[in-house]
Amino acid sequence: MYNIKPKTFDFKSVNGISAKQLDEHYKLYVGYVNTLNKIWNIPYIPENYTDSNSTYSNMRSLKLGETYSLDGVKLHQLYFQNMTGGNNTPSGPLLNAIIDQFSSYDRFISYLTNVGLSMRGWAILAIDSIDNKFHIIGSDLHDTGAVWLSYPLLVMDVYEHAYFMDFGTDKRKYISTFINNINWGVLNNRFANYVSSLQINNMNANMKRYSPYPFEFHY
Ligand SMILES: [Fe+2]
Repeated sequence: MYNIKPKTFDFKSVNGISAKQLDEHYKLYVGYVNTLNKIWNIPYIPENYTDSNSTYSNMRSLKLGETYSLDGVKLHQLYFQNMTGGNNTPSGPLLNAIIDQFSSYDRFISYLTNVGLSMRGWAILAIDSIDNKFHIIGSDLHDTGAVWLSYPLLVMDVYEHAYFMDFGTDKRKYISTFINNINWGVLNNRFANYVSSLQINNMNANMKRYSPYPFEFHY
């Protein structure tokens, strides 16, 4: 029996986005959690899927709903976590690595902002396992544009539901408000987790033989 529980977040720490906007957004997240539990608790009964095909079928509906709600849950948890709790001064090893790759913090923020303005769903700073470098991934839907084996460090929701109540069409103002609420403690913890996983992998010589990805960390 699947019974994933919604996580809770300290929305009182958020500046510039109203409690009403955040509460309505949180309700959407809870809805994804409930839908995911519902989908994962459907037993597989072969007789219910005798019509499976890729235009319309029970299995197709189930699988599309599964990835949409699962990614919706994960991305909202990462988003709410990295915009709550304070620690809003850019700092730490992640900031240094960002400056190293993007030339400056301002260039990174400019790139992130333009990705956010250009997409309808998400803008995500990730480290991709294929080169262990930062990439800002743009996505229009929870499960569209998702990249496998890419590790998210900073997740920004740019769906209209994330800002329209407070900012109307002024998406740029929402993005700058979100950026001011980024919790750099959370980001640096995620970065440290990724680096430590690389170090563990580096120690395991056998794993190198089986992995298609480089384990050397370049920062
Ligand atoms: Fe959202």
